[in-house]
This record gives sequence, C-alpha cells and structure tokens, in this order.
Amino acid sequence: MRIPTTAALALALTFPVFAAPPVKPARLGLCAACHGADGMATMPGAPNLAGQKLDYLREALRQYRDGRRDVAVMRAATGPLSDAELDQLAQWFAAQTPHPQAAP
Ligand code: HEC
Repeated sequence: MRIPTTAALALALTFPVFAAPPVKPARLGLCAACHGADGMATMPGAPNLAGQKLDYLREALRQYRDGRRDVAVMRAATGPLSDAELDQLAQWFAAQTPHPQAAP
C-alpha cells in the first residue's frame, strides 16, 4: 500500500530519527552547490556530509548558525534556518550513502 505524501510527512515530523528515507528538505538547494545534493562535496574545501552521524550534523549546524563555529560561508547558509529546517537537512545528509570520488 502506498502511504500518502502528507501522512509520510507527518510521520517524518513526528518521528524524525526513525523516518527513512527522509523527506527531501525544501532548503537542500542552499547546501547542494558546495556539499552536493547527495552529500558528496562538489566544491574544493567543502566536506562530504553523506553518512555522517545525525547528532554530529545537528550540532554542527546549530554551531554555525549560532556563531559558535565562526565560518562565514556556513553562517550565511544556516543563518536564516529554523531548528526544524536544520534537523531536516541533518537527517537528509546522514541518510545518504557515501561513494568514492574520482581523483581531482
Ligand atoms: C559556499 C559553500 C557552502 C555552502 C553553500 C554550504 N556549506 Fe556547509 N560547509 C562549507 C565549508 C567550506 C565547510 C567547512 C567549514 C569549517 O571549516 O568548519 C562546511 C561545513 C559544513 C558542515 C560541518 C561538517 C563537519 O564535518 O564538521 C556541515 C554539517 C555543513 N557544512 C552543512 C551545510 C548545510 C546543511 C548547508 C545548507 C544549509 C551548507 N552546509 C551550505 C561550505 C558550504
């Protein structure tokens, strides 16, 4: 049986840690240019995020947004985002599968 999108979304919001696969975040476009939509970085100097631990990603994103990690590009990207939006992005990247990259 196919679960309606709204029900899946409600589930994802109610049980964020256990919802799999996560809903594609509306704000993913803010991050994809540097970190890749699949969490494999496309920009020199940007870290891969695919498969990183969820709690680490959540905390790192709050640190950038709140200025505890003072990195201008990340502060600009996370500045306008709510806790819920950061969590959605953390869940998305944590759920991606890292894959080998071609040598530069
Ligand atoms: C302009 C390029 C750029 C954009 C856009 C960007 N990032 Fe980053 N991100 C970086 C760079 C560079 C770093 C490394 C910063 C540092 O040294 O702490 C980083 C670091 C991170 C880290 C920490 C990784 C770690 O291992 O500690 C996370 C998580 C992250 N970004 C998520 C995001 C998310 C989510 C978005 C979208 C809201 C985003 N980034 C947008 C460039 C970018």
